[in-house]
Amino acid sequence: MGDLGRRRPRDQPSTTMANLAVELFGIRCAHPVWAAAGPNVLDGAHALRAAQGGASALVMKTISTEAARVPKPCMARVGADALVNCELWSELAAEEYLAKEYALAKSSGVPVIASIGYRPEELAELGPRVEATGCVDAIEFSLHYTGRGHEEVLAAARALRAAVRLPIIAKLSPGMGDLGEVAEALEPYVDAFAAINSVGPVWVVDTERGRPLLGSEDGRGWLSGRPIKPIALRCVREVASRVKVPVIGVGGIVCGQDAIEFLMAGAWVVQVCTAAILRGPQVYGAIAREMAEWMEAHGYTSVEEVRARGRSLVCGMGGVDYAGQAPQVDEERCTRCGLCVTSCCPRALTLKNEGRARIEVDTALCVRCGLCRTVCPHGAIT
Ligand SMILES: Cc1cc2nc3c(=O)[nH]c(=O)nc-3n(C[C@H](O)[C@H](O)[C@H](O)COP(=O)(O)O)c2cc1C
Repeated sequence: MGDLGRRRPRDQPSTTMANLAVELFGIRCAHPVWAAAGPNVLDGAHALRAAQGGASALVMKTISTEAARVPKPCMARVGADALVNCELWSELAAEEYLAKEYALAKSSGVPVIASIGYRPEELAELGPRVEATGCVDAIEFSLHYTGRGHEEVLAAARALRAAVRLPIIAKLSPGMGDLGEVAEALEPYVDAFAAINSVGPVWVVDTERGRPLLGSEDGRGWLSGRPIKPIALRCVREVASRVKVPVIGVGGIVCGQDAIEFLMAGAWVVQVCTAAILRGPQVYGAIAREMAEWMEAHGYTSVEEVRARGRSLVCGMGGVDYAGQAPQVDEERCTRCGLCVTSCCPRALTLKNEGRARIEVDTALCVRCGLCRTVCPHGAIT
């Protein structure tokens, strides 16, 4: 953690006030935590709850020209902060959103972004109707079911660009190949990218009932939440390094520190879906508050400063001679919990119980893998 920034000594009060406000393509937000498309924002009433919970902008559930027929069950929890789903897009007809759901969402006072899908002709039809409501600040289009070919993806972006004047966000899925390459090809047609949609397909089985957890024909679904965060971070970095327009990070964000990681990967703002489903809409505000606390504790005054720090991150071995560096245990912080000992495959760490218990490091056995530093819950190993 210490190498992420300029951590202020614990006993020193913060002298900085972090400003979390962000502006992208004319949309101003009090902080960078948005609601992502999903059942957390499935209609206007849910959108209002998301705004009350602290979301600074609302990306509504994806609609298409035909309402989806979603197989049930369509969601299952698969561990802490993780879900699988086969929810497709909205089961509500587009007409409902156009007639009242976007207006209700807009009454929250925060920016509203419609999400539409999927084929070029569907985007060309829906885009202008969404724009005509006057209740929407931007349009996100999902490429989740568009097809994998470059041409199909480009045709979708071109069709929507030709049909609307509102800012457009292309939402990328992790299975689309080299996302940097895809984003570069799409950039002339869009104002921003959101990365990523859920990961998969995946398959999960209920061993007690002897059937898949999800009701889709083949039991397949999509994984979201905590486990996908490292994939999403890699995708965001890949896209942000190739395009000039803003990138929106989404995937596995549960707390403020997660969101900070996305800023360092190159995101301007983040979106949250699974954590809001499992923990409730107040999670948006909690994440924003934790971001502010982290920034103040580390001496950052703006979101842009955190992003800039990400651009200058040292990658690779950064000139450090790891061969000469064995782990050092801070006796004050160490609680002798033994987690580092258990996970040390070369058996270089031992819990010595003679006299005062302590962790002993055998520098000859240590292979400098770095695992112990990240396993220790107390930050006792450097
Ligand atoms: C149940 C469920 C439904 C979703 N529906 C949509 C959708 O309609 N449109 C869309 O673009 N993304 C949809 N997503 C994807 C999320 O917006 C988000 O990109 C993904 O879940 C990763 O973020 P998370 O880990 O915070 O959930 C859905 C996700 C879940 C879990």
